Amino acid sequence: MSEVSTARFEVTVAESEAEHAALGAEIFARAIDAAVRARGSAKVALSGGSTPGPVYRRLAQMALPLDRIDWFWVDERAGDPSSPRSNFRAARADLGLDRADVAARVHRMEAEDPDLAAAAARYEALLRRTFGVASAIAFDVMTLGIGDDGHTASLFPGTGATAIDDRLVAAIGAQPAKGLEARITLTAPVLCEARTVLVLARGAAKQRPIASAWSEGPEEDVPARVLLRVRGQVVWLVDRDAYPTG
Ligand code: 6PG
Repeated sequence: MSEVSTARFEVTVAESEAEHAALGAEIFARAIDAAVRARGSAKVALSGGSTPGPVYRRLAQMALPLDRIDWFWVDERAGDPSSPRSNFRAARADLGLDRADVAARVHRMEAEDPDLAAAAARYEALLRRTFGVASAIAFDVMTLGIGDDGHTASLFPGTGATAIDDRLVAAIGAQPAKGLEARITLTAPVLCEARTVLVLARGAAKQRPIASAWSEGPEEDVPARVLLRVRGQVVWLVDRDAYPTG
């Protein structure tokens, strides 16, 4: 493991998938613990994609204060929650959240609704109720990934999604050319309020988008640049292949 850090921006390079999972789970659990100590509960937001699985499975083996954690999603793919494409389904299985005693604290996005904008508005209302209307919607810990095209959450390049600043949750249209279904996503202002953002990336295909995300430029071209505006701590947990060299 090696580390580069400033006060709010930290890069940790894991030497193996196992180390990536272990470090990710440790950072996640520490953020949960700090939130529970400071505020009595932890509000977390989970990304999908393939990278977080090993981190979530490792986290599930730790002694977590499950009666104090509220689980939300960063984004969801249009479709049924039982679909293999569902971010809810994957994270719930990986984290072992299919237990009756935590069900009331597991808050999925209802992306099976053909009216995704209505489902996004319902999720926004849920966030306002949970956090309180007069408080910032500041997640204690949020996992994010980065796509080969520089997207994060479901904020895709060339779609205007990073500029949405009048909603907490938005519906994003399908992109047939990329083979992507429509999505529901937390918007950039919510990402930027998070206290700890854990960005998980592995593999050489992430090197270029990460280098771009770390350099100033239009967010519309590289949406992961919104992470340069996060008010809390951003931890990039990458493997050697994903770490930008040049
Ligand atoms: C999703 C996401 C998305 C993901 C990145 C990285 O639903 O697809 O939440 O933003 O984090 O695409 O995905 P990988 O981990 O699969 O590379």
